[in-house]
Amino acid sequence: MKKKVFLTRTLHNFALKKLKDKYDIEIHSGKIPIPQTKLQSKIKEIDGLICFPYDKIDKITIDFAKKLKVISTYSVGFDHIDVKYAKKKKIRVGYTPKVLTDATANLTFSLLLDISRRVTEGDRIIRNGKWREIYGAHDYVGLDLQGKTLGILGLGRIGKTLAKRANAFDMKIAYHNRKRLSKIKEKSMRVKYTSFEKLITQSDIISIHVPHTKETDQMFNMKIFEKMKKTSFLINTSRGQIVNEKDLITALKRKIIAGAGLDVFEIEPITKKNPLVKLQNVVLVPHIGSSTNETRIKMAEITVKNLDLGINGKKPIYSIGY
Ligand code: DGY
Repeated sequence: MKKKVFLTRTLHNFALKKLKDKYDIEIHSGKIPIPQTKLQSKIKEIDGLICFPYDKIDKITIDFAKKLKVISTYSVGFDHIDVKYAKKKKIRVGYTPKVLTDATANLTFSLLLDISRRVTEGDRIIRNGKWREIYGAHDYVGLDLQGKTLGILGLGRIGKTLAKRANAFDMKIAYHNRKRLSKIKEKSMRVKYTSFEKLITQSDIISIHVPHTKETDQMFNMKIFEKMKKTSFLINTSRGQIVNEKDLITALKRKIIAGAGLDVFEIEPITKKNPLVKLQNVVLVPHIGSSTNETRIKMAEITVKNLDLGINGKKPIYSIGY
């Protein structure tokens, strides 16, 4: 009898083929994310689960599992999984770091360039027939990046890769991280360690690269926005819940900060009703940090490998917890 694997969404054909060769697979069809009750009823009978950042693999859901050996998520983020509880239940958890570092750093830098030079705003002006006169001295002016300070919150893989991009644009780079780099590393990477307070008060652009945890939940709220420079921009390609969206909207409307570039939101997908959609000083993209063809293929490869190892009692190539 083949072991059972359930996928909450489909993957590339090559990945499905690999899975089908060895396992009895079922792919959820219908509402995305999968309704919790369906996930809980499926989890009862499976040996391996492939899930996505929107799926909630909480304690209650894990408790439905009878023989689950591995949860393999198609993402670097694993805040949707109760990893501690999975560990307690001896269920392995695999994820997909490293392969998406460049793609995510590039998307972050695209948002940074876009919001600072008003690219999407200009596109909207043209599409809406609002480009009336050309080349006025003050028309659609943006911000030069050279010499400006990029504040990176979280200098992990993506933060470091972003720093390389920013160095190429002659930016000054300040970072705040739980752990400080060695002085030699800081020098070679041309980054300067700073307190969180200084990071938010002195940066021209702040980019968030910390995971969503209890500590980082709603970390950016009105108190923080009020301390940021009025001319500053916030970029978030990490997790929406790190930012209090209501406060951000107020800060953007009242010009407490100058703008934001967002790939992630408190509740995804956002709809036209979200007030962010009405604001001109934001660039919004639909959670596409890792979404390049090459990267998504590599993520699928790792997701399958992680599943394959975990289901057979081995440690996934990239594993968290157990
Ligand atoms: C992840 O992998 O967690 C990212 O959010 C994808 O862009």
